Amino acid sequence: MARPLNILFISPEAHPFAKTGGLGDVSSALPHALKQLGHDVRVMLPKYRSVKQSKRSIKPMGLTVAVPVGPETKSGELHEGRLNRRVPIYFIGQDDYFDREGFYGDAEGEFSDNAERFIFFDRAVLEACKALNFQPDIIHCNDWQTGLVPCYLKTTFASDPFFENTRSVFSIHNLGYQGNFDERYLPLAHLPWNLFTPEGIEFYGSLSFMKAGLVYADRLTTVSKTYSKEILTPENGFHMDGVLRHHQSKLSGILNGADYGEWDPQTDSNIKTRYGPKSLKGKQECKKSLARKLSFKLPEQTPLICMVTRLSPQKGIDLILESFSKLMKLEAALVILGTGDAFYETFLKDQDHRYRSRFRYVSGFDEKLAHQIIAGSDILLMPSLYEPCGLTQMYALRYGTVPVVRRVGGLADTVKAFQSGKNRGTGFLLKPKETDEWVPLLQKALTLYSKKKVWRSLMLNGMKQDFSWDKVAKQYVRLYRRALKKNDKAVSEPGTDRYLPLQNLPDYNKN
Ligand code: ADP
Ligand code: GLC
Repeated sequence: MARPLNILFISPEAHPFAKTGGLGDVSSALPHALKQLGHDVRVMLPKYRSVKQSKRSIKPMGLTVAVPVGPETKSGELHEGRLNRRVPIYFIGQDDYFDREGFYGDAEGEFSDNAERFIFFDRAVLEACKALNFQPDIIHCNDWQTGLVPCYLKTTFASDPFFENTRSVFSIHNLGYQGNFDERYLPLAHLPWNLFTPEGIEFYGSLSFMKAGLVYADRLTTVSKTYSKEILTPENGFHMDGVLRHHQSKLSGILNGADYGEWDPQTDSNIKTRYGPKSLKGKQECKKSLARKLSFKLPEQTPLICMVTRLSPQKGIDLILESFSKLMKLEAALVILGTGDAFYETFLKDQDHRYRSRFRYVSGFDEKLAHQIIAGSDILLMPSLYEPCGLTQMYALRYGTVPVVRRVGGLADTVKAFQSGKNRGTGFLLKPKETDEWVPLLQKALTLYSKKKVWRSLMLNGMKQDFSWDKVAKQYVRLYRRALKKNDKAVSEPGTDRYLPLQNLPDYNKN
């Protein structure tokens, strides 16, 4: 049997300590699934204020790492907790950077020191491995906030024996967020200027954390097969498509899983009544209880439509806004739970006042209410412009809440179009870029809703889908093992190893 791997999983989010979206869910569930397979997996996260607020047990370890950030040395205090009871999670504490409301920004906008905060975190992660004497085979990095780690491994730490056998995997959860900053931040990272080229970490004149991850990681993954193809095109590549095509040989798409430990109506303690495919009665109770909570006075047969979402253009919110008056004419009620762009929030608040009998907007981030809404609704909307994977529709499927989505990214890979004659399929799909068909598609779903038997089989088809993480974790392990092979083909492709070993670089301090 192959030996268990030492895996360090680093991320800017992990539920229940820090979450703004699906990355938080993935960073909790995937390490747990890897642990179940017998690997020594550990997670690292910044010690945000929310970590304290999570009321989980966290202990200081009495270990401090010294991290050079420009001319200063900042200390990182290590704390330890547990994820899903089994997985060690280390928090790197530096209150100047992380003890504040919000992870990346607040009501005023993005934090102005985000480059510095994540330069610190990325370098601290590597120093922490040494302090803990944990020699990872794989460092699995997630999204731009962790993008400098693969770069450090190939430059600053390239000749460090501690990391001699360490390989990096960089996962793209959303190419739309790249962490591009002014070049003046480069010296803060103690990275040499000759990395600041189009082959390196320069991106249209900026220092790009995302690009650092793409260029220097040994393997790249993204969170669905379809998205792994979409990002190679100018249309969906956010100007990184050229870089990605260049590094295509090390890129693969692995569809996320759904954490049924957290999201299963048969065991969910957040919802009013538990239910499952064998007994759907509880769903009706959940719907009644949700309607009461939202002060909706709805006849029982009125379909309830929901969205649980970040309010950002990615999620197709503009389509909701444009079609709003038409949506309000449908024989249905709508609830939206979400937070994000102020423009969308204001619009939705106004509509909430205007259409009290059939629309509710709940502003904010509320984990428990998210479960209650998904359980208590009949239909979930996700008309995203692009969607790397999307977890909400997978959760909705499990709860018998039928998804109406756009056929892009992971939505295309997880929702199958319902064919009424054959009673096959799990939801309704809008073509990419299509807008005119949106309201008719919803109308079609609502018409089927009134045919109780057909709707029931549609719900059951969805509830029987299995997106368990254990299968997904096995795919990651295969990928990790390939990356660890001495002659890993993907990394030896021409053009993927254009960095210079550190000894050939001028010392930045002398520049
Ligand atoms: P993304 O990561 O792009 O936001 P996903 O569908 O992958 O989209 O994951 C979204 C996750 O965030 C789900 O767990 C969803 O329930 C949760 N979520 C989104 N908005 C809210 C909110 N306002 N309150 C509570 N949970 C939310
Ligand atoms: C990102 C994507 C979403 C994906 C999630 C987890 O936030 O927008 O589609 O499901 O990451 O991978």
